[in-house]
Amino acid sequence: MRVLVTGGAGFIGSAVAIGLAERHQGWELMALDNLRRRGAELNLPRLREAGVRFLHGDIRELDDLLAAGECDALVECSAEPSALAGRDGSPAYVVHSNLVGAYNCLELARRHGAYVIFLSTSRVYPVRPLAALAIEEAQTRFELGSDQPVTGASPAGIAEDFPLAGARTLYGATKLAAELLIEEYRDAYGLRAVIDRCGVIAGPWQMGKVDQGVFTFWMLAHHFRRSLEYIGFGGTGKQVRDLLHVEDLVDLLAEQLAQPERWDGVVANVGGGRGISLSLLETTQLCAEISGHSVEVRRSAVERPGDVPIYLSDCARLEALTDWRPRRSAREVLADIHAWISRHESALARAL
Ligand SMILES: NC(=O)c1ccc[n+]([C@@H]2O[C@H](COP(=O)([O-])OP(=O)(O)OC[C@H]3O[C@@H](n4cnc5c(N)ncnc54)[C@H](O)[C@@H]3O)[C@@H](O)[C@H]2O)c1
Repeated sequence: MRVLVTGGAGFIGSAVAIGLAERHQGWELMALDNLRRRGAELNLPRLREAGVRFLHGDIRELDDLLAAGECDALVECSAEPSALAGRDGSPAYVVHSNLVGAYNCLELARRHGAYVIFLSTSRVYPVRPLAALAIEEAQTRFELGSDQPVTGASPAGIAEDFPLAGARTLYGATKLAAELLIEEYRDAYGLRAVIDRCGVIAGPWQMGKVDQGVFTFWMLAHHFRRSLEYIGFGGTGKQVRDLLHVEDLVDLLAEQLAQPERWDGVVANVGGGRGISLSLLETTQLCAEISGHSVEVRRSAVERPGDVPIYLSDCARLEALTDWRPRRSAREVLADIHAWISRHESALARAL
């Protein structure tokens, strides 16, 4: 098997490439990345040690992808993944990279008959209907109420039949548009593909920043004793996300790669669900316990565009298809992030 991982020096891409190299000694793994993400360069020695070939290239350029040569499978992990991307008045990068780039990936897959695993996002679900859900305020977090105004929403989270009308951020829109293209490529060219709509993925080697990679960002602030801010929703810190350890995701992707015929055509939410979820307030508590440091957390009631008070992945569709289940708890995710920061303190202090 020759497998190309695009965005292969990124957080998920590097974990996937290295995880597959460890599982399959005979496979040839390639990681293509333009190193746009700050800190991605720190993953290059890890890729090298695992025997993954690094290709410095840009998915906006079809020729860069074609230079990778024949491949049997393509795991599309590249993106401009920030929900705030383009809000500064320049949508070009997020559209060219996430949409034109995805098209180029599909072209490569079409030409080589490669099976595609596409990492999509919970951000395909529109913002306003998510923000309008019935929410209950518990002591440390928001909860989804049992009586919801739309289909696809319940206390277990958001399911794939949640209505798709409405704006969803440029990031979410480019990802949904790429999903639609995949559907057309399956229909017109017999492309085999699976779409994983991921909630928050977290773990070591995520170069967390304020608008992407919140759990690493929170732990970094605790470790380096920087102050933080609860932004929006009254500044209470009760906003909630489910989270999934990146190694749990790699386990699932390895299964999907091994069984293309079984997974082809599946579009499924992938996340920790209600069972593995945290509010920021709870995250602060855990970060303080694990790092041994308490930091000041200011409150800001200013709302951030595209933000929602709670998102939980309802993974019932996925769970009906596989025995795979997340194995790592929210505490384990944070503890692993902390151990990684402690081991690589000086490199991370410089890069992030
Ligand atoms: N991390 C999450 O919580 C999460 C959640 C849902 C979906 N996803 C999806 O998973 C995928 C990977 O996300 P991540 O968290 O690893 O992000 P990341 O930013 O760590 O990795 C993305 C990588 O893509 C590279 N890249 C960006 N533009 C490129 C281009 N034009 N050509 C080549 N490489 C390019 C970046 O340099 C980076 O290394 C993305 O598609 C993202 O949308 C991530």
